[in-house]
Amino acid sequence: MSRPAWLVTTPIYYANAEPHIGHTYTTVVADTLVRWRRQRGIDAFSVSGTDEHGEKMVEAAAARGLAPAAFTEAVSATFQRTWVELGISPSRFVRTTEPAHVRNVQAVLQRVYDAGWIDQREYEGLYCVGCERFLTERDLVDGKCRDHERVPERRREVNYFFLMSREFAWLREEIASDRIWIRPERYKNEALAMLRDESGLGDLSISRPKARLAWGIELPFDSAHVCYVWFDALLSYLTGAGFDGTKPADAQPPEFAARWATAEHLIGKDILKPHAIFWPIMLKAIGLPPYRRLHVHGYWNVDNRKVSKSLGNMISPLAMRERYGFEPFRWFLLREMSFGLDANFTEEALVERVNADLANNLGNLVSRTLNLVEKLCAGRVPEAGPDEREERAVLEGADAARARVDAALEAVQPHLAAAAVVEYASAVNRYVDGRAPWKAAKDPATEPLARATLHVACQALARLRALLVPLLPAAAEEIAARLALGPDGALVPGAPVRKGAPLFPRLELVREG
Ligand code: MSP
Repeated sequence: MSRPAWLVTTPIYYANAEPHIGHTYTTVVADTLVRWRRQRGIDAFSVSGTDEHGEKMVEAAAARGLAPAAFTEAVSATFQRTWVELGISPSRFVRTTEPAHVRNVQAVLQRVYDAGWIDQREYEGLYCVGCERFLTERDLVDGKCRDHERVPERRREVNYFFLMSREFAWLREEIASDRIWIRPERYKNEALAMLRDESGLGDLSISRPKARLAWGIELPFDSAHVCYVWFDALLSYLTGAGFDGTKPADAQPPEFAARWATAEHLIGKDILKPHAIFWPIMLKAIGLPPYRRLHVHGYWNVDNRKVSKSLGNMISPLAMRERYGFEPFRWFLLREMSFGLDANFTEEALVERVNADLANNLGNLVSRTLNLVEKLCAGRVPEAGPDEREERAVLEGADAARARVDAALEAVQPHLAAAAVVEYASAVNRYVDGRAPWKAAKDPATEPLARATLHVACQALARLRALLVPLLPAAAEEIAARLALGPDGALVPGAPVRKGAPLFPRLELVREG
């Protein structure tokens, strides 16, 4: 039997500036979930990419004196290179300008048009280029877009509309009953609130006149218009999963069908509306089932303001790697943000968190255990001793930690998984302190107990290593190498260990200037 499939997506990122902490967070969470599922024998597949059409790109390219195609090509390459360098590359990276995607978008538009889901109308409203959409009253604060802090433009134009409002009742029912699963709960409620008060919603304009914006995918049924960037962007999830637009929804390639049946999206809270409202109805129009789950996270703030390209307070993942190492930064992202809530980023907090969790706790457990094995057991993993109550408790603790990590990652609560790992490492450290093998080894009567303690500590490290595989893959690999674990990750008594340099050196805050 082939392995069960699983699909996770990150948003596709606007190719108008470099990757920052917000993008890195979602990409790291997706990478963590994929590694966790692969560890359990699942054929996990991840999709990410770059969103390259729309006015925002034209503006950003013009500001640099470039054509949109050349500009987005360069920025997209930066995203791809960054993920490769950080070891968090998605299985499939979709560019919305690539031919396979353009073909899919046009095929879907034509199919949906033929099925009577699209209508032509005249439209007038306040348009925000930052959001790439017409705003409603509630999007405004003092006459400005609340997200982009800029005054929207009044525009009047002929638009094609996707007739989404006719499915609002259906959608409300799907979301309320969790057939369309949106979590944390507050975002499910937010989506339901949008649907309750439809004044902020309506049918969706999915076209832009070419006369004003030529940088987009041409509508197959009217070459004077291009496709609205969000309609194009959401379809990248299908392109990434292997959808073939030339075939109807019920005749898709088997790998697409298997992945789509399990699809889970990760997004930030600002793009809830397109994912909770537009997307399920688009899928219905295409004839595909809805995604399985939508997981919504909050913002990373710096000085309590959202990090964003337009506000210019971005934290670069490559700069953080340079200063502190990538895995310490990855750890901070996973551990510090309660998935669903906002979190504040400071380098002080990063240094403190990493030193407490990794240097002083986990790293210290690795160092002291391997040191003692070297000194007291001639550098070889000691045999198990008698099965004492305390020893058994340490190993049962590993099972409990495993269960907590599994439950947390299943629920996409990576911070709880990280917390479970740290708590288990603390418990093992306390056990080693209590047994004091360095003292016990000095007396021939208690020497066997010292060796038994170290055996249990090595067992616990092997279990911790397995828990770390999704969270800190490089550190997990290093622990496996130092403990000379077998190919299945199991401890091999008698195997030669290697002490090595500290796994997580204590960090110092890097002050600029
Ligand atoms: N291109 C659209 C998404 C299309 S998906 C079909 C887009 N791109 S974006 O580059 O602006 O944002 C991508 C993701 O980054 C969003 O999920 C957004 O929430 C997230 N973040 C942007 N800034 C963020 C923070 N400061 N903190 C956390 N995530 C935030 O929207």
